[in-house]
Amino acid sequence: MRVTFIDPAGQTHAVTGEPGESIMRCATHHLVPGIVGECGGAMACATCHGYIAEDWAGKLAAPSAQEREMLSGCIDVRPNSRLTCQIRLTEELGGIVIEVPESQT
Ligand code: FES
Repeated sequence: MRVTFIDPAGQTHAVTGEPGESIMRCATHHLVPGIVGECGGAMACATCHGYIAEDWAGKLAAPSAQEREMLSGCIDVRPNSRLTCQIRLTEELGGIVIEVPESQT
């Protein structure tokens, strides 16, 4: 399925993700700049912070307390901020768009 990352300069990186894969893994697999995933998805680094586009944000389960706590330490947190390692791709999320925070590039 198509997953599109938009960097702070507005450049898009459209890649193909697999169902079950996390958005962070999808990004790192395709070397998308700004999504690092340093802790491998253990919710210990927040280097996978991304902004989920409005059309998809409502399709996601709410973040866990631990995710919210990690996000609270991020720079430029927005209402649509998520740790992309905590979001698994499903068919329903095909076409999802994620903005990469400026602080990570
Ligand atoms: S990869 Fe470390 S918190 Fe998401």
